[in-house]
Amino acid sequence: MDFNFTEEQIMIRDAARDFAQRELIEDVIERDEKALYPTKHVQRLAELGFLGMMTSEKYDGGGMDTVSYVLAMEEISKVDSSVAVIMSVCNSLVNWGLEKFGNEEQKEKYLKPLARGERTGAFLLSEPEAGSDATKQHTIAEDKGDYYLINGTKNWITNGNSAHTYLVVAHTHPEMGHKGINAFIIEKDTPGITIGPHENKMGMRSSDTHSVMFNDVKVPKENRIGDDGFGFKFAMKTLDGGRIGIAAQALGIASGAFERAMAYAKERKAFGKPISAHQDVAFKLADMAVKIENARNLILKAAWMKDNKIDYGFQSAMAKYYAAEIAMEVTTEAVQIHGGYGYVREYHVERLMREAKLTQIYEGTSEIQKIVISRTLLRD
Ligand code: CAA
Repeated sequence: MDFNFTEEQIMIRDAARDFAQRELIEDVIERDEKALYPTKHVQRLAELGFLGMMTSEKYDGGGMDTVSYVLAMEEISKVDSSVAVIMSVCNSLVNWGLEKFGNEEQKEKYLKPLARGERTGAFLLSEPEAGSDATKQHTIAEDKGDYYLINGTKNWITNGNSAHTYLVVAHTHPEMGHKGINAFIIEKDTPGITIGPHENKMGMRSSDTHSVMFNDVKVPKENRIGDDGFGFKFAMKTLDGGRIGIAAQALGIASGAFERAMAYAKERKAFGKPISAHQDVAFKLADMAVKIENARNLILKAAWMKDNKIDYGFQSAMAKYYAAEIAMEVTTEAVQIHGGYGYVREYHVERLMREAKLTQIYEGTSEIQKIVISRTLLRD
């Protein structure tokens, strides 16, 4: 077993760290407070090649592996998860879904500009009544011969307003249950699409989350991904990889809060010595470090399995579940170690705690991950 990273992986991690610590940190508090979309930072993500880093070079991406992606996601999430989730949705849901399951024409037309970072994407699965229960799609794609007519509403869509290219899941044959679901590539500027207001979120406030409404939206037949009825499996398989990205995000949130708590505990004095010399604080730090290391190992194993073409859905659910849970615990302790300072904006840890909460909710709640894990364990 080799736990060393390659030179290239270290280079990518360091480039992401540099970008986060020099550029993202500058205005992260202001963007969070005012819920401002990070336009210039997304532009930099594109210039640095992070928006299409996992797409193969053949389709104008960076051709980097999932381990590198995890390392980069962790570094960016230490500072700003709003930027990290934009990168995550583009790489591991939209680009990966297109590269893996799209046909050559679709990849040429839609994937290449996404991989070059000229465009961004969004993944439209969730609905008002189909969040966790993803088979209950109310959005309908009516087969009209040479096109589909889409009607319905999608909710909680990351990049909902900023994205150019949507991957949309809808029911074509509702009577067939999940076997009647399809996924489509739809450009955001297609007539009939309207965008709901910006969701005023508790955390990750500078990523744009919106509802998207489809009213008689015409989609050419050739924009369907895969065979008729493949849409649910498309969504599930894509989410298996997406969960590695969100797990890495949760890891970054936890390790970012931990680094801040460590620094503060060594510097802050109480009762005549640094608070890190008080056993209660020192033991908190020890617990936090163990949790973070466990999460990192689960995630890197999932990434390694994906890179080595080993079935990774079970591992990615475990990684996402555990990393999100410990992110919540570690950030809560980081606030506690900071005392009153932890509860105010300037020290960042309260924001990291708010961000951690979302990792327990999106791309499948912690409860969904436990469904995936337990079903796999108990399968005959
Ligand atoms: N890979 C391949 N196939 C899969 C699969 C996977 N990971 N998971 C399920 N399937 C297949 C099953 O084999 C089954 O196929 P057959 O009928 O041919 O045997 C079919 O799909 C139905 O599977 P289930 O009976 O297990 O389906 P279910 O209704 O019980 O639900 C679930 C399974 C895991 C709970 C699923 O509904 C789920 O993951 N829900 C959560 C959805 C989610 O994560 N939403 C987040 C939205 S995306 C987002 O947040 C993006 C963003 O903007 C940040």
